[in-house]
Amino acid sequence: MTIHIGAEKGDIAETVLMPGDPYRAKWAAENFLQDARLVNEVRGMLGYTGNWNGHRVTIQGSGMGMPSLSIYANELIRDFGAKTLIRIGSCGGMQPQVKLRDVILAMTATTVGSPSHSIFKELNFAPSADWSLLQAAAQAAETRDVGLHVGGIYSSDTFYDERPDLNEQMVRHGILGVEMEAAELYTLAARYQCRALAVLTVSDHLVTGEALPSEQRERSFGDMVEIALEAAFA
Ligand code: HPA
Repeated sequence: MTIHIGAEKGDIAETVLMPGDPYRAKWAAENFLQDARLVNEVRGMLGYTGNWNGHRVTIQGSGMGMPSLSIYANELIRDFGAKTLIRIGSCGGMQPQVKLRDVILAMTATTVGSPSHSIFKELNFAPSADWSLLQAAAQAAETRDVGLHVGGIYSSDTFYDERPDLNEQMVRHGILGVEMEAAELYTLAARYQCRALAVLTVSDHLVTGEALPSEQRERSFGDMVEIALEAAFA
């Protein structure tokens, strides 16, 4: 048991999917895992461990934002031995070719800062996805009826943003979408020699102002879970 994860040591699998929303962890475990059981409910941040095609998998909520994700990813890696961590979540589209429901695989993630920022001092560390996961996820996505984009994203600290000038620079430099967690996940994975990837569906669009109706969010979320599981065990 750790401060934030009430599981026993062997309760967490080496492969962990991390949705931001703990109820998404419950939904994914109920719909995609066999023999799933609840392994964490501290602070309502639900985590489940079960099997997918004979492979052990944990699905653990990360909460919103890099400070929250950092707590769970640190404990999963350092205390429970997680080796492959895949964020599954939503993002806001930032390019005209990026449509609602499309899937973005984040090759790298730009930030203003992250919980890890201070240790790098004057360095601007470039967090990047694990290539084997990225490649396998791209292949898994290509077999589905989803638009696929692979490239840079922006891991922001603010959902209610007061700096539109930063978004303008992101758009200008080809950033595909904005979310709030991937950069810290990639940085922790690099520090502890783990594999990490963020698989994101576009739930809203910063440029067009469109947003996905809630019933379509569930379908998109299912695509992401399957892409993440196929990539993890490719
Ligand atoms: N901003 C930040 N995170 C997000 C957004 C957004 O517009 N949409 C989904 N996650």
